Amino acid sequence: MLDFEAARKNPFAPGLFAGQVAVVTGGGTGIGLAVAEELLALGAKVAIASRDPAHYQAALERLEKIGETWAGRCDIREPDEVAKLVDGVLERFGRIDVLVNNAGGQFLAPAVAISPRGFEAVVRNNLLGTFNVTREVATRAMIPHKRGAIVNVTVNASRGFPAMSHTGAARAGVENLTMSLAVEWAEHDVRVNCVAPGNNIRSSAVDRYGEAAFEMARRATPQKRLGSVEEVAHAVVFLAAPAASFITGAILRVDGGQALWGDVWPIPERGG
Ligand SMILES: NC(=O)c1ccc[n+]([C@@H]2O[C@H](COP(=O)([O-])OP(=O)(O)OC[C@H]3O[C@@H](n4cnc5c(N)ncnc54)[C@H](OP(=O)(O)O)[C@@H]3O)[C@@H](O)[C@H]2O)c1
Repeated sequence: MLDFEAARKNPFAPGLFAGQVAVVTGGGTGIGLAVAEELLALGAKVAIASRDPAHYQAALERLEKIGETWAGRCDIREPDEVAKLVDGVLERFGRIDVLVNNAGGQFLAPAVAISPRGFEAVVRNNLLGTFNVTREVATRAMIPHKRGAIVNVTVNASRGFPAMSHTGAARAGVENLTMSLAVEWAEHDVRVNCVAPGNNIRSSAVDRYGEAAFEMARRATPQKRLGSVEEVAHAVVFLAAPAASFITGAILRVDGGQALWGDVWPIPERGG
């Protein structure tokens, strides 16, 4: 009989990514760290990237115990820094087979309280940053070698995203970009997909938004629990793996059914 708990922890064949190189942006914390750990455990060499050395140095210590890894400082908003990151990965590992665009961030605020600069900052990070890294990796490593899998980690905003309109707009942009690139790059055997976690994933975000927000999210989730960063990582790894070889341009929600039913937080009363 299937050991469900064991299968949930290790759902993929050992060595699945042997010989492959993966880049995970935002790989020093939360979901990105879980993705980096799983890819390493499955045999990939993994480069992680983020802005804060404190994030990626601590992660490196964990990751080096699992496999061959490397970290680069990079702000994905800056094309020059992205080019240097790709230089570093290619120098160290010589190829890039998998790119996970996981880096991103946003803040809770109704639209009327978001300044134009605040809106622009989120769009620059979550949409332009994703484009910068994707373009650099695809043109320098994937398209020339006629292979690659790109997975963009977005946010489940399929019904709109009140109180986070900036990121809703940016992530909708990433989802549409995913579909365009999936078609443009199919001839190069580069697949491009999205994983869209609900805002009910227990990760480092708990510290930012607070337990109360996550309790509301749990109640609004049909599966009546929060998801884990490992469950998001499994979806990312699936889309990067040969098992998904005929899947491109897809948006895979990982949200315990949250998008289909229930509101995470109530719409404020008029005048409230
Ligand atoms: N947790 C959830 O419930 C949830 C739900 C839906 C979607 N998501 C999305 O999933 C992704 C991962 O989230 P998480 O929960 O794991 O949060 P997190 O721990 O805050 O991860 C975000 C990572 O992105 C990096 N980052 C942010 N801006 C960057 C930039 N300009 N350049 C380079 N790196 C940057 C951060 O590292 P540095 O600060 O070192 O740069 C951090 O490691 C994010 O895009 C998030 O919005 C999360």
